[in-house]
Amino acid sequence: MIATFVANIYKMSGVNVLIIGSGGREHALAWKLSQSPKLGKLFALPGNPGTARLGENIPLSVLDFEGIRTVVLEKNINLVVIGPEEPLVKGLYNFLTGDLGLRNVLVVGPGREGAMLEGSKNFAKAFMQRHGIPTARYRAFTRDEYSEAKKFLGTLSSPYVLKADGLAAGKGVVIQASYEDACASLGEFFSGKFGDAGNVVVIEEYLRGVELSVFVLTDGKSYVILPEAKDYKRVGAGDTGPNTGGMGAVSPVPFATPEFMKKVEETIVKPTISGLASEGIPYCGFIFFGLMNVVGNPFVVEYNARLGDPETQVVLPRIKNDMLELLMLCAAGKMNEAELVVAPQFAATVILASGGYPGSYEKGKAISGLEASANAIIFHAGTTSSGSMTLTAGGRVLACTGTGESMEDALASSYCAANAITFESKYFRSDIGMDVYPKS
Ligand code: AMP
Ligand code: GLY
Repeated sequence: MIATFVANIYKMSGVNVLIIGSGGREHALAWKLSQSPKLGKLFALPGNPGTARLGENIPLSVLDFEGIRTVVLEKNINLVVIGPEEPLVKGLYNFLTGDLGLRNVLVVGPGREGAMLEGSKNFAKAFMQRHGIPTARYRAFTRDEYSEAKKFLGTLSSPYVLKADGLAAGKGVVIQASYEDACASLGEFFSGKFGDAGNVVVIEEYLRGVELSVFVLTDGKSYVILPEAKDYKRVGAGDTGPNTGGMGAVSPVPFATPEFMKKVEETIVKPTISGLASEGIPYCGFIFFGLMNVVGNPFVVEYNARLGDPETQVVLPRIKNDMLELLMLCAAGKMNEAELVVAPQFAATVILASGGYPGSYEKGKAISGLEASANAIIFHAGTTSSGSMTLTAGGRVLACTGTGESMEDALASSYCAANAITFESKYFRSDIGMDVYPKS
């Protein structure tokens, strides 16, 4: 059945799609898939007010696997795209693809084993070591190895990087300037601050350089490299203050020259995909390479088993392909037939956050000005609807994406929307893109 399905991908229409997730990334996916002439009905689970405008939201948890199975059957879903890490790491892909009743349904994952690249930092580091993939020198320690861990810290120089092994919602990485503070953090990890995620701690060398996010879509054999992006993780202008999920992004990134990207492909992308294959780990989905450019050479800081947020909001607007066709080719194991076409335009996104984020913040603030932003694409992240009103419902509220023939134009559109949209305690970074695209 899958074989017939694949043969028909190019002439298919009426494909019903279910997107799992509710963030800006999922709204951007919904936006891009909505442009496909092959799309039938679009569903998002649970979705957000942005996806509700493009399709139907289904108010279920992304971890309600049985509920998702029922939706796939009842709505005649042909393709499921899983956005966030938690259902991936917990095996939603395996659950759906292993069900005989769903054998005609295509799923973009990856499965539980492949998602270990994100779900266990210790697994990811050991994998990179096995396959000679450039990354920071490291060692992993369990709770009963506290004194060995402190000794290893003593062999490194400041700053010290400590990571909880498991998923910790982006909060499991601590960078400390002093040895004493690093030892104190180690104690906190082992005392259960991150729950089971901190049972094993990875301690690694600090990499000095500029970060870059590179994404591939792969079926475990062939792959396409999507446009690269730069994310702005710290909350404050000039990369100050605590880490967040990401306060903005730009694509393309000037230092990602063809020579640099060639190094990324040869030393990182290819060995990762062939490494997965040689270890018998099937992989169908996105791999997000969090890279550090260390004097012209790329090193892997982390892998994620999904697209980035807010990177997706600048990557997808630069892809010319029919995204539905690309995702179907991936899920059907036919990535060798895919050829990516990138638009020669620039994209920037600025996140509007609730004041206080990533610490505590208030929700339920009325948002206005959403309709006035004709030149930008507004992706919803943490919003909710109440009657005809849209209210804030999260730390990262909206992503304002601008595109243009120059980064200056793209940023101008983003910032025009960022200023026009209002809600109480709105906060955004005013310097997105400015480090890599300095004003001339
Ligand atoms: P991760 O969750 O592994 O991406 O780490 C969060 C952030 O911590 C990264 O985006 C980097 O900014 C920083 N980071 C992590 N590992 C290192 C490292 N070895 N050297 C320098 N910075 C790092
Ligand atoms: N923007 C970083 C991430 O999605 O993890």
